[in-house]
Amino acid sequence: MPEGAKVQKMFAGIAKRYDFANLLLSGGCSLYWTRRLVALARRSRPQEIADLATGSGDVAFELKRRLPKSRVRGFDFCEEMLDVARERAKKIPGAETVEFAFGDCMALPLADASADAVTIAYGVRNFEDRQRGLREILRILKPGGKAFILEFTQPSAWFRPIYYLYLKFLLPLIARIVTGDKKAYDYLAGSIEAFPPKERLSAELREAGFSEVRAIGLTASIVAVHIAAK
Ligand SMILES: C[S@@+](CC[C@H](N)C(=O)[O-])C[C@H]1O[C@@H](n2cnc3c(N)ncnc32)[C@H](O)[C@@H]1O
Repeated sequence: MPEGAKVQKMFAGIAKRYDFANLLLSGGCSLYWTRRLVALARRSRPQEIADLATGSGDVAFELKRRLPKSRVRGFDFCEEMLDVARERAKKIPGAETVEFAFGDCMALPLADASADAVTIAYGVRNFEDRQRGLREILRILKPGGKAFILEFTQPSAWFRPIYYLYLKFLLPLIARIVTGDKKAYDYLAGSIEAFPPKERLSAELREAGFSEVRAIGLTASIVAVHIAAK
């Protein structure tokens, strides 16, 4: 099975328990990280925003809350995750105008230069072809538009031993109890460990054609927000 299809299937399997697991396994940090991502994106007052790999819609809903007049669209290639997002949109005041649609980051259903801002949280790590995905983001951005990428990164050296102990032993155990799917979280640990540090992802963004690239590490650099302009 191609890598993308495997990722799609994996998220379909955990879609219903994804939100709870996410909050629990991050010790509540995921909420803070989403808010920081959106606070950074909000600074340029974007009108047209595409949230890619939107999953159950956390970032899209926070964008709508902070930028109620902007058009917010969420795209994902896993219909089961989009179903969860659409159901949540009905229950969150003000979120009913967030649009959710199928969209594979390898070939997005969006016109060239159509977005002022692109956000993506925990999606780039799963890209089948990272350069292709980054170039797709660049393609859909308007000139001067910005990409805001929230992703796991390599944590500060002092924190690494504790972090990897948690990631490799404790996290899969808790994840199996919560989601019933240990394999998905073994994948999470492996993909985080294999993901490039901030400096390399920044270099890859420049290679894809972005400028003004910078990275902000959060919580001992467990995650980082990369900001890159077209
Ligand atoms: C870890 S979840 C993150 C969801 C959400 N952004 C959040 O902050 O909770 C990753 C999501 O990325 C989606 N995804 C992974 N690769 C993708 C791709 N190539 N195109 C579209 N969606 C993708 C998966 O289906 C999944 O919903």
